[in-house]
Amino acid sequence: MTKVDLKDVPETMLWTLYNRASEASRQDAIIKDDKAIEIYQSIEYDYEKSFGRADQSFAVRSLTFDQEISAFIKAYPECYIINLGEGLETQRFRFTSDKATWVSVDLPEAMEVREQFIKPDKKHLHIAVSALDRQWFDTIPKDKPVFVTAQGLFMYLQEKEVKSLVIDMINTFQQGFIMFDTVPIWISLITSSSIGLKKTWNYTLPKMPWGINRNQISEVKNWSDKIKRVREIPYAFPRGLQKYLFDSFLLTPILNRYAPTMVKVEF
Ligand SMILES: C[S@@+](CC[C@H](N)C(=O)[O-])C[C@H]1O[C@@H](n2cnc3c(N)ncnc32)[C@H](O)[C@@H]1O
Repeated sequence: MTKVDLKDVPETMLWTLYNRASEASRQDAIIKDDKAIEIYQSIEYDYEKSFGRADQSFAVRSLTFDQEISAFIKAYPECYIINLGEGLETQRFRFTSDKATWVSVDLPEAMEVREQFIKPDKKHLHIAVSALDRQWFDTIPKDKPVFVTAQGLFMYLQEKEVKSLVIDMINTFQQGFIMFDTVPIWISLITSSSIGLKKTWNYTLPKMPWGINRNQISEVKNWSDKIKRVREIPYAFPRGLQKYLFDSFLLTPILNRYAPTMVKVEF
């Protein structure tokens, strides 16, 4: 068993790993991910104590990103897939492509933990810097199609940081997609309040400064003239009470703008 010392936002990589590995362990799992299960089982950490019962959300998110990346790799086999704030995401192990280059960008303390389980190589680069530090741009050829993902990252940044990072990526790379997930403003406000958002009695989520409601997503298109299209991709839960509740939420007018969602920007 490996002990990891993670705090604040980097610790949340254990929450997403826990949910993905729990889903992947099911008979009727929506994602197959033996590597996630292996890493999850190797870390000495009381996941349930911090994060409560695992749910489907992060597996749904991973599956949705996988589907979009898969289509991209099919169209551009020699592309670059750049995962900002990748943590212990094992996305590349769910693909068989040998021509694409995967680039993982995360904070030094998070990358140190990732590398205990996942080693970089020529086709899988690790860059231990903040996503906001533009020096990672230098590693990526500017004329190759890029698919940039930020799964569980942008909500932990300030809106102006997200916006300027998106604009700089669009101005630097010739063509591609930037895909990220968002939380609504009410979640951002609760996490930023003095009480915070308690996941369990033992764990309070880090502040999420950037919230955006679903009815504001189309405004992202105004961030740059080079954005061709902004598409929202809602969560589609596979089963059970979580599916029923979330689907009902999405079907309720007005209320449905207050749901977390996913966004794909084409440029
Ligand atoms: C909720 S976890 C998500 C991890 C992974 N994307 C997943 O879905 O399992 C948030 C991740 O963002 C990383 N992170 C936080 N601030 C960052 C920054 N400024 N630049 C890059 N990564 C950052 C954390 O270290 C952590 O790995």
